[in-house]
Amino acid sequence: MKLENRVAVITGGGRGIGRSISLALAEAGADIVIAARTLAPAKKVAQEVEALGRRCLALQVDVSNYFSVQQAVETIVSSFGRIDILVNNAGGSARGKMSLFCDSEPDTWNEVIGTNLIGVFHTCRAVINGMLEQGAGSIINIGSVAGMIGLPSQADYSAAKGAVIAFSKALAKESVKQGVRVNCVSPGPIKSEAGRSIPPEMRKNLAVQALIDSTGYSEFGDPDDIAKLVTFLASEDAKFITGQNYPVCGLMNLGLNVSISG
Ligand SMILES: NC(=O)c1ccc[n+]([C@@H]2O[C@H](COP(=O)([O-])OP(=O)(O)OC[C@H]3O[C@@H](n4cnc5c(N)ncnc54)[C@H](O)[C@@H]3O)[C@@H](O)[C@H]2O)c1
Repeated sequence: MKLENRVAVITGGGRGIGRSISLALAEAGADIVIAARTLAPAKKVAQEVEALGRRCLALQVDVSNYFSVQQAVETIVSSFGRIDILVNNAGGSARGKMSLFCDSEPDTWNEVIGTNLIGVFHTCRAVINGMLEQGAGSIINIGSVAGMIGLPSQADYSAAKGAVIAFSKALAKESVKQGVRVNCVSPGPIKSEAGRSIPPEMRKNLAVQALIDSTGYSEFGDPDDIAKLVTFLASEDAKFITGQNYPVCGLMNLGLNVSISG
């Protein structure tokens, strides 16, 4: 198996895309740590991982709090000895508080930036020295197509994810000589819990149909579409790939997709 004897940490792995990534990495042979804000769903996913024959630890972590992240990394290293793969998946837009930027509030920006960007700084800072010392590691940051094209009513989220993509490139350049790779995977609309829980009135506001249409497909993507690419990037098959950002969004990042006739 491609990831045998590897230790992978997935933030926000208790549901949605993070759950799929946790299971896919376990299927590829890795032992798994699920670092999640809410412990109960993380423990449920841990049972699913263990049923695949892998070790799994579920830890309660708030990625926006550096102390919480540092404590978790200490626990992981004392239990597993090392961290080979870090998937920064925890995040999301300000659900329930999405608005045009002209109506937005600093508290919301701080929350969105705190989880989606500073959270990634926290986990990367807490694991990077261990990876540099061991001369190997793969960090995969979950960005968003919003961070590539900018989405209305999600200016703060678009900014945070755009910064995650740029940060990944910078950290890749700093770490390549020591064998540490850093890449980004940027989903378009995906059928995760977050995607499913958008209420009907919000769907109308967000023009969800327009979002789907912009992909060229007739459906949202599946969490497994993200998990498969993450598994590849985590493996030695991707040893010559670092500092890259991979959109998984159909055609959404390419702009207008309509035929004009006449
Ligand atoms: N679903 C989509 O359509 C979509 C599109 C583009 C990007 N993404 C990105 O993919 C990632 C996963 O999204 P999802 O759709 O599965 O979302 P989700 O809301 O279903 O899951 C996100 C997970 O992150 C956890 N989390 C949030 N804040 C946290 C914090 N401060 N500390 C620790 N854990 C925290 C949540 O508890 C949850 O388990 C996110 O980074 C999101 O921005 C999702």
